[in-house]
Amino acid sequence: MLGFSSKGDTVQRIIVVANRLPVSWDGAEWTTSPGGLVRALVPVLQQAEGAWVGWPGIPDLDTEPFSHDGIDQRPVALTESEVDDFYYGFCNGTLWPLYHDAIVLPEYHRHTWRPYVAVNRRYAEETAKVTKPGDIAWVQDYQLQLVPSMLRSMVPELTIGFYLHIPFPPIEIFARLPWRRQILEGLLGSDVIAFQTRQSADNFSRAARRLVGAEAHGRRALTWEGRTVQLQPAPIAIDTAEFERMARSPGVQQRAAEIRFELGDPECVILGMDRLDYTKGIDLRLKAFSNLLDEAPKDRHAYAFVQVAVPSREQVPAYQALRLEIEQLVGRINGEYGEPGWAPVSYLYRTLPFEDVIAYYVAADVMLVNPLRDGMNLVAKEYVACRLEDTGVLILSEFAGAAEQLTSALIVNPYDVDGVVATMRQAAALTRDEQAARMRRLRRAVRKEDVFDWARQCLAMLEDQ
Ligand code: F6P
Repeated sequence: MLGFSSKGDTVQRIIVVANRLPVSWDGAEWTTSPGGLVRALVPVLQQAEGAWVGWPGIPDLDTEPFSHDGIDQRPVALTESEVDDFYYGFCNGTLWPLYHDAIVLPEYHRHTWRPYVAVNRRYAEETAKVTKPGDIAWVQDYQLQLVPSMLRSMVPELTIGFYLHIPFPPIEIFARLPWRRQILEGLLGSDVIAFQTRQSADNFSRAARRLVGAEAHGRRALTWEGRTVQLQPAPIAIDTAEFERMARSPGVQQRAAEIRFELGDPECVILGMDRLDYTKGIDLRLKAFSNLLDEAPKDRHAYAFVQVAVPSREQVPAYQALRLEIEQLVGRINGEYGEPGWAPVSYLYRTLPFEDVIAYYVAADVMLVNPLRDGMNLVAKEYVACRLEDTGVLILSEFAGAAEQLTSALIVNPYDVDGVVATMRQAAALTRDEQAARMRRLRRAVRKEDVFDWARQCLAMLEDQ
């Protein structure tokens, strides 16, 4: 059974190791964090008597292990300077841009690499304390790529899985990293490394063979230091039923109608919903919308564009610069095309309550998801799940992992602004039947596998080891 497989008399426990704990401290109590990964894993860990190792999200907060949601929570404390150097510095100033095709120039600093090693070691040590031979440790994401090999040397009999939530870049880009060997060797400590896409799995395989001499073992495995390391594409999904349930609720339906009314009941509501991140293509999206208005002087009032930008990593200079640029663009478009009482772009820089997010999905005729590179992009799947009547159009970047599955979207090259403008026009003109034909296929894709299937699939690979 999922998360509770037995080998003889021994129960196989699952220890999730992630940058953040699945709970956050609001000053008075711990509350479960929102998000698909946490929702999917909490029941699995409850059943498996598992533990979760992670940072509580606040610098210098040093708490003892505690239980929440029936899960053994194992906090890893980070000092303020570790948050600066490990999290903002190496994770989000070096690895994040490098793994996203170096859209922004990655910075390479020894003074942030060293804390990355030290913090990874602390996560591995904390994990080693709660594991015993036969358990499964499931390590998450780019912040912890050294943990698998560190953990293997501490608890050799452990089954170790790693899931990369972001893309693994082509070797031509990855090879720039001064610490590429250490990162590859760190990951190769795993028994299974799972990726969002086949492309990422292939990129990793090539880098490991060419840069550290791992040997191919069939199509989807490598041999490294006498062990086999499986490489598996396992695209992450959403809790589809929950999105459908929310979208159906009268409160959300009512809020969606209000949103359309507040926007002036336009013919076509176009929505962008992202963390404010330079990988998301928000600036190019706004330029495309500006061109659309420019080309259609008589139809301007037919469109309303809503951009929800969720604050993220605000201490990183590239994110601060992007926010300025986006806000200038919004101001320019509204200044140039708006009229008293009417602004073509509604811009919200905040984290919206979950119900409001769903209401925007329900209200939008067109969802524009045009990242320059994205591991998966769950927003695209969430929008589709909320389109209960098979109406609406998804425009999706070919560089989002989701494009491998959501092939019935209108696919765009986000760098081709003219192409995006033409696709927005095409989307606005699709008949209801044409929308339904595409949306039905998209909905089939998001219903086929949800986040619980994803967790089951990943853990089954580890249980088989
Ligand atoms: O997509 C990778 C990811 O780390 C997600 O897991 C997370 O939701 C997002 O980026 C933002 O992460 P953080 O706020 O922890 O930097």
